[in-house]
Amino acid sequence: MMELKQIEKSFSAGEVSEQVLKGVTLTIESGKLTALTGVSGSGKSTLLSIAAGLQSTTSGSVLFDGRDLTSLDQEELRALRAGSFGFVFQSSHLVPFLTAAEQLELMLKTSGRKLSKKAAAAEISRVLTRVGMEHRRNAYPDTMSGGEKQRIAIARALIHQPKIVFADEPTASLDSKRSHDIMKLLKDITTDTGTAVLMVTHDEEMLGYADRVVEMRDGLIG
Ligand SMILES: Nc1ncnc2c1ncn2[C@@H]1O[C@H](COP(=O)(O)OP(=O)(O)O)[C@@H](O)[C@H]1O
Ligand SMILES: [Mg+2]
Repeated sequence: MMELKQIEKSFSAGEVSEQVLKGVTLTIESGKLTALTGVSGSGKSTLLSIAAGLQSTTSGSVLFDGRDLTSLDQEELRALRAGSFGFVFQSSHLVPFLTAAEQLELMLKTSGRKLSKKAAAAEISRVLTRVGMEHRRNAYPDTMSGGEKQRIAIARALIHQPKIVFADEPTASLDSKRSHDIMKLLKDITTDTGTAVLMVTHDEEMLGYADRVVEMRDGLIG
């Protein structure tokens, strides 16, 4: 699905340069949940954002769908992310003035996936049902619990049928029960749809849901 090859990343501030990734090679497989774990500052989020085409590399390649993301320009990357990737973060980042269904509708439009109005409505209902939120389709974010918001964020990440979902600490702001519910959902999605999930977590309790656990240590994979 995706191959990261010898990824290096350095940040420089003035004369000081810090090498955060020191040559990471990783394959992300379709239909599998890959968990990236490791202590804070070990480079997990940096690696995820490079895989997702949100950040440039210092060297190395990110192969996806026959292309190397590191050789694409900003517009090509934007189109690729919008069409093929889904994103879930610690905070749900919902648009405050849109209902649950409207959040998904907006994302569907952005993705460039062409559907008739009727097909789009059916697809939105299907995905809302999938995350257990169809009964809340007309709800606004400020009336939702943290767990409900995260379900909508997951639905929004899935609405355009992405090949890979990138999730950075998706359960970090949830209590234990809701965290397990969200993890179960992410895991089931990989099995049902063949979507790959690359998830960052430092919560050991959540690693049981992963098909593969990759530990980052000092910018390298252990
Ligand atoms: N934009 C940036 N500029 C400078 N340093 C950064 C930047 N992003 C991350 N870092 C540094 O890279 C290291 C790894 O960060 P990060 O990937 O966020 O780690 P993790 O997600 O594992 O906590 C940290 O030391 C952090 O300070
Ligand atoms: Mg992080």
